[in-house]
Amino acid sequence: MVTEPTSQRHPSAADEVMELLTRFGTAWRVELVILALPIALGIWLSVRLGPVAAGAITASVVLAVVVPPPSRRLLARILHRASVRRHLEVAFASVTGVLSDRPPIIGAVVRTTGGDRVQLGLRHGTSIEDLERAGAVIASSLGVRDVRAAVDPAHQNLVTLTIIRHDPFASTGLPCPLVKAKGFDAWEGVPVGVDEEGEIVRLLLPEHNVLLGGEPGSGKSTALSVLLGAFALDPGVCLWLFDGKLVELAPWSTCARRFVGPDIALAISVLEELRGEMDRRYSELLARKVKKVAPRDGLSLHVLVIDELALYVAGTDKSLAGRFAELLRDLVARGRAAGIIVVAATQKPSTDIVPSALRDLFGFRWALRCATREASDTVLGSGWASRGFSAADSAPSTRGVGLLLHEGGIPVRLRSFHLSDGDIRVIAERAQRLRHDESVATGESEP
Ligand SMILES: Nc1ncnc2c1ncn2[C@@H]1O[C@H](COP(=O)(O)OP(=O)(O)OP(=O)(O)O)[C@@H](O)[C@H]1O
Ligand SMILES: [Mg+2]
Repeated sequence: MVTEPTSQRHPSAADEVMELLTRFGTAWRVELVILALPIALGIWLSVRLGPVAAGAITASVVLAVVVPPPSRRLLARILHRASVRRHLEVAFASVTGVLSDRPPIIGAVVRTTGGDRVQLGLRHGTSIEDLERAGAVIASSLGVRDVRAAVDPAHQNLVTLTIIRHDPFASTGLPCPLVKAKGFDAWEGVPVGVDEEGEIVRLLLPEHNVLLGGEPGSGKSTALSVLLGAFALDPGVCLWLFDGKLVELAPWSTCARRFVGPDIALAISVLEELRGEMDRRYSELLARKVKKVAPRDGLSLHVLVIDELALYVAGTDKSLAGRFAELLRDLVARGRAAGIIVVAATQKPSTDIVPSALRDLFGFRWALRCATREASDTVLGSGWASRGFSAADSAPSTRGVGLLLHEGGIPVRLRSFHLSDGDIRVIAERAQRLRHDESVATGESEP
C-alpha cells in the first residue's frame, strides 16, 4: 500500500511560526518574564482602579526598582546572566557533533573581572575533551577572547567554563599589601597575588612546602620575594636563604640567619646546620609531649628559601649535588611537624634536574608561565594540563601570571604581586627594625 506523505514531513507555515515563537520565548524567557511583570500589574490595576491610577502606580513601582542602585545592580546582574546563558546555548548549538546534540546544562553564572565563570553539567556521552575541542568555535560564537574549561577532579561531569572577555591580568593590579604592613604573622596566609576575580590569594605555608617553576623571566624570583617579605616581617621566623644568582635574595640577607650564594660546599654545610636545628626541635617537642609546632607555642618557624634550585641539585659535581639533594629531601620529608617550611624555585623541575624523590614531596606547586603544557605539568604534577590547568596558556608578556596549586586541591590562576626594588628595600628595612626590637626585648641575638 502506498501511503500519502504526512504533514509531519512538510510542516505548515503555522507550525513553523509556532516553533519560531517557542524558540524565541525559550531563549528570551528571563527578559520576557521581567517585561511581563509590570505589564500584568498594569492590566490588573487598570481593571480595578482605572487606567490613570494603574499607569501611575505601575510607573512608580518600575522606578522604585530601576532607580535605587542596589536593585538596579541586581536587575543588571539577572539580565547579564540571562544573556550569557542565551549566548552559550546558541554557541553549543553551533558546534557540530555531540555538544549540539547533548548540550551541557548551564548552571550558575558569575561575573568576573575578566568575563564570566559558568558552571556546566555535562550530559551522558560527553566529556571535557568535547568542550576543549570546541573551545575556539564557542569563543568565536560568543565573540570573546577565549574560553577555558576545567573539570572538577572529583566529578568528571562538572566543568567550570571561564569566559575571557579581556585579560583580567592585563592591568598592573593591586599593590602588594606587604608594602604598608607593620608586621606579619607567619601562621596566617601570605597575600601572594590576585585571582581572576580580583580577589587576593593567600598562601598558608606552615606545615607545607612549595615548589615554584616557570620559564626564564616568568616571575619566580619576584614571587619568592613576596613570600620572603611576609616571613621577614614576622620576627618569630628564622630565615635561611640560598640564592644561586646571589642578587635576587640579597636584599633580605640582613633579616636572614644564613645567606648562601652559588657555593655548593657552603650550601651543604648550612643545610646540615638546619638539619641539626630540626633534630633539636624534635627533641624539644618530645620533651613537651607534643607532636608538632603550633601557633604561639614559642617555637619559631624556620623558612628555607632556595632560588635557582637547579644550581644546587644538578651542579657539575655530582657527589656534592647528590649530597645537597639528599639533605634537602630529608628536610622536606621530616621538617613539617618541626616547623620547617621549604620554598624552592627552578625553571623546570624535570627529574633530570630535581630528583623525583625530592620533587614529589612538595605538596604545594606554583607554576609561573611555562613554554609548553608538558612543562606546566612538570611543575603542577602530571595530568593537570589535560584537565584545563596549564600555565602555558598565559600571555608571555604578562609577567607573574601562573597557577597555584595549594589548599583547595585545584590550581588557582593568579597574578603575583609585584615588588619593585624600592618596595623590597622598604619592607626589608622595616623587617630588620622589627627583628632588632624583638631581639632587644627577648635578649636573644639577631636574627
Ligand atoms: N607580578 C608581576 N607583575 C609585573 N612584573 C613582574 C611580575 N613578576 C615578575 N615581574 C617582572 O618580570 C621580570 C622577571 O621576573 P623574575 O626575575 O622574578 O623572573 P624569574 O622567573 O625569576 O626569571 P629567571 O628564571 O631568569 O630567574 C622582572 O623584571 C620582574 O620585575
Ligand atoms: Mg629568578
